Amino acid sequence: MIIFNNNAFHLCTKNTSYIMAVFGGRLLNLYYGKRISRVPDIEQMLPISGPRIFSCPDINEGDISVSTDNLTVEYPTFGSADLRTPAFSARYADGSEVTRFEYAGYEITEGKYRPEGLPSVYAEENDTVSSLKIILEDRVSKAAAELNFSVFEDYDAITRSVKIINKSDKAFDIEKALSLCFDLRRSDFDMITLNGAWARERMPERMPLRIGVQQVESMRGITSHHENPFFALLDRNADENSGEVYGFNLIYSGNFVAGVQRDSYNVARAYIGINPQNFVWRLEPGESFVTPEAVSVFSDSGIGGMSRIFHKLYRERLCRGVYRDIRRPVLINNWEATYFDFNEEKILSIAKTAKQADIELMVLDDGWFGKRNGESGSLGDWVPNTDKLPNGIKGLAEKVNALGMKFGLWMEPEMVSPDSDLNRAHPDWCLHIGGRTPTLGRNQLVLDLTRKEVREYIKSTFDRLLGDGYISYIKWDMNRSMTEVGSAVGGAAAQGKVYHSYVLGLYEIMEYLVNRYPNVLFEGCSGGGARFDGGILHYMPQIWTSDDTDAVERLYIQYGTSICYPYSAMGAHVSAVPNHQVWRTTPMKMRGDVSICGQLGYELDLGKLDEADMNCVKEQVKAYKELSEVFHNGDLYRLLVPVGNNAAVNEFISNDKNTVIVCSYIIKGTPGAPHDYIKLKGLEAGADYADQSGRAFSGDYLMNFGVTVSYTSDHKSDITVFKRIKK
Ligand code: DGJ
Repeated sequence: MIIFNNNAFHLCTKNTSYIMAVFGGRLLNLYYGKRISRVPDIEQMLPISGPRIFSCPDINEGDISVSTDNLTVEYPTFGSADLRTPAFSARYADGSEVTRFEYAGYEITEGKYRPEGLPSVYAEENDTVSSLKIILEDRVSKAAAELNFSVFEDYDAITRSVKIINKSDKAFDIEKALSLCFDLRRSDFDMITLNGAWARERMPERMPLRIGVQQVESMRGITSHHENPFFALLDRNADENSGEVYGFNLIYSGNFVAGVQRDSYNVARAYIGINPQNFVWRLEPGESFVTPEAVSVFSDSGIGGMSRIFHKLYRERLCRGVYRDIRRPVLINNWEATYFDFNEEKILSIAKTAKQADIELMVLDDGWFGKRNGESGSLGDWVPNTDKLPNGIKGLAEKVNALGMKFGLWMEPEMVSPDSDLNRAHPDWCLHIGGRTPTLGRNQLVLDLTRKEVREYIKSTFDRLLGDGYISYIKWDMNRSMTEVGSAVGGAAAQGKVYHSYVLGLYEIMEYLVNRYPNVLFEGCSGGGARFDGGILHYMPQIWTSDDTDAVERLYIQYGTSICYPYSAMGAHVSAVPNHQVWRTTPMKMRGDVSICGQLGYELDLGKLDEADMNCVKEQVKAYKELSEVFHNGDLYRLLVPVGNNAAVNEFISNDKNTVIVCSYIIKGTPGAPHDYIKLKGLEAGADYADQSGRAFSGDYLMNFGVTVSYTSDHKSDITVFKRIKK
């Protein structure tokens, strides 16, 4: 619900309020947090009688009692009166860089605002969603900003995107246009960010805010392994279950900044958007620019409460297509089984063994095309290597289909190898800067997706492969960060647009494909999880979480990923031991118990397993088919997080509270360690639940006494399923 009264805007979700007001021609934000039933006269909410501030700009001439340094400006601009980190700056025709946005009107509509050409959260017919557009204008430059908010009442989330319009008769260059920027009137927060590297993505880091700017960012052209466009601000004593937590996420797959500036007056300015580094967007008269969408949520039920809001919103209103709601196939992927060394016979033998375990989809990974027998060539030449696959992809796919399995294929569509026919034919199709030798990454170059002919080449490649319908799944990989980012087209004025135009080009291709091939399941991937973000999730409902498939490492990676993203989005594979990334050996049971919560797959030659392990695989696949509905559509409670505990316990509970799954993992056991009693969450207190062996427990027993976990041995895991007993 959005209420406009007495110059104040009140955006209410079920449990939160976001309040802005017009004051002295400026738009201020006054509050975000737990729902307030009625907004008082806004004078009450303004810090007018705050500390007198010397050397700071006055808001009204001759009145030094109010400074912009004390005001919480919505969408602050550079150089006029608010001298903290701005959300917006532009270089105008006269060389100046100062903007002062003033309030110029508003509009409230039913339904969701959708930023054109960009991925975003959407509303369905019966959702209670309304949108607010606030128009801000700079009288001198005639630059305007439309702040577009959408309020998801039942989901407890607010989305926003900004449209910048050039209403003047001269071009100007946008140098910074963030998606979200607002001030919280307190700064005694901790900040959580998700940081890492290849094979250890999204490790949560928690730090108290200090004065100044603290931010995460990417300048790699992709969201990256290293930092993620997410952060949370939370009470210093907030934990998984209690305390106030704000979460911010950008639905975007390119360069970003996400951070906080804590000022000297206990205000925390939170912001998120496109990274301004090498972003210069020329706006001709009449043109507009739309920022990616930012999502903000607030919960007073701790980090877990915040995560559950993101999870539900993303799995139900960000992911799309037929696979949003149906169980996705269990897959077998040949990458860690064969790497580049395979032929048709080998792939078929892997598929046949997988079929015995009722695995449903055979995915052929890298190395099927051109002359690719290693990491050094052929990207872009998407024709089957007939030395390995004499009957081509079609011939292999038909044989896999004849086994009663679906067939899927790996692609890396955004890349070109220097040693490829594509590069020889079109040497200027890669991102590069004339006169500079492009730096290679994994021996490859990035195609220039800002160019229409390149995007058409990629679309037609997919049309050729997917047109006949024998491919049901595509793993879309992207294996390098971008360097020397420039385009051979557009001249000097276009170069500051390349990073963002690339992402827009990527989204255009993905939008085309998901509309044209609605029954194909796409899985995102980027050297593991370097592009695990909401942008990709709008096109591809699952993303390969990490190249690290070790069960123990995965507990940490999946935990960190789940801070913002749902388990339904995480590709999770069981691989061989010793593990190929860390050489650790874990039991098949634990490997399966870790993967079963995500989108289950296998990435090994099952033909090499002994009978006991193969039986274990069969049980896992069977259990997954029964339980995935709860793992993927239920609520997650992280009862024990792996960091600092050498163990982890997750609870998944179905929306009707009829099924509760408790997954426990011991990373490092200690002989003689005491038992722990882990209290379950969110059950129906008065209901009775029975576990797999028929033992019955009341909901309040499980929530107050708990379940026992024993920490005595390494790599022990258990999955306990409690079902509500019908009385
Ligand atoms: C990186 C991916 O993350 C792996 O799963 C695999 O597909 C390789 N690329 C193939 O080159």
